[in-house]
Amino acid sequence: MGPLPVPFNRPSLVGNEVKYLRDAIRRGQLAGDGHYTRQCSARICELTGAPRAMLTHSCTAALEMAAILCNLGPGDEVIMPSFTFVSTANAVALRGAVPVFVDIDSDTLNIDPVCVAAAVTPRTRAIFAVHYAGFPADMDALAAIARAHDLLLVEDAAQALGSRYKGRPCGSLGDLAAFSFHETKNIISGEGGALTVNRPEMVERAEIIREKGTNRSRFFRGQVDKYTWVDIGSSFLPGELIASYLYAQLEMAEMINTRRLACFERYMEAFAELETRQRLRLPRFAAEGTGNGHMFYLLLRDEADRAGFIAHMKANGIGTPFHYVPLHSAPAGKRLARSHGRLAVTDRISETLVRLPMFFDLGSQIENVIDHALGYFDGEAIS
Ligand SMILES: Cc1ncc(COP(=O)(O)O)c(C=O)c1O
Repeated sequence: MGPLPVPFNRPSLVGNEVKYLRDAIRRGQLAGDGHYTRQCSARICELTGAPRAMLTHSCTAALEMAAILCNLGPGDEVIMPSFTFVSTANAVALRGAVPVFVDIDSDTLNIDPVCVAAAVTPRTRAIFAVHYAGFPADMDALAAIARAHDLLLVEDAAQALGSRYKGRPCGSLGDLAAFSFHETKNIISGEGGALTVNRPEMVERAEIIREKGTNRSRFFRGQVDKYTWVDIGSSFLPGELIASYLYAQLEMAEMINTRRLACFERYMEAFAELETRQRLRLPRFAAEGTGNGHMFYLLLRDEADRAGFIAHMKANGIGTPFHYVPLHSAPAGKRLARSHGRLAVTDRISETLVRLPMFFDLGSQIENVIDHALGYFDGEAIS
């Protein structure tokens, strides 16, 4: 029997998940904002350096909170990459504002600050920057544009817990940042997310928005004698079962990222020669950034080359999916958003990028992945 199939992602237990789930049940509070939510929030502050972290049920929810906190409304514009997940844009569109897509840098695949600067109009209210694959966007350049035009800067840090920019952790770099703990991320709880709030004056409103538009958090701190509806909001918080599982993962965050980074390095080494021969392109990142091993991708020659690679890997039982369909070419993107300039890099990257398996327990299966991937390119040399 040959090696077992390797999925693209597989969630793993890393420590105290089951123990903390049992403990959460024993404590008798399954609704949110109990013991484990507090533990998670403190740990996220520790990992990100942000002064305040609020658990949400997804990164999507955290982005929706961010859009409300930015006071977005009809007529407003938010600049963001088209090469991102739908939630970055949906959060803005849900407020009746317009996502404005700009191109990405062909090396880092992150939003290109030159394109951002060119896209600013009197209607621009914010920049939503994505740290793609866990590599930080050029935050100093983006912060300078935001300052010059009085814009808010939001990090879509869905993939970037533990990544750093000039030594500073993602999540502490913008005014607000949104994280994901979806099972495909480094730190997981099935579904899950967090908003970090770096502006003290936004904290109280963020608490209210997260608690269905009520001042319930102030009530529990004894600051008001009853709680009531004071603003718009929704139910953005997860229950304690999710938080207990998540806390076990957050406890091990450094170890999880170290393991993934080792896999990332192994992939880089394995494909280095093919890059030298210009057969493919490896991830490139700016010198000021450090990644978290969230994702490993290859950039192939064209769409046909990528289809051939994916089919070859699938025939060998290995999951290697492509990634985002650019939002500017999606039906809702055409209806609800606009683009600034040609998004040529976005189009090219989205046609040629393929992701390789990356998960906590990948272990020695990585050699199976590498062997079959190299087999694809070798086969071609022979024919
Ligand atoms: C850049 C980006 N933003 C937002 C999200 C949404 O995360 P969630 O599934 O936690 O809502 C994702 C999910 O993959 C993502 O990659």
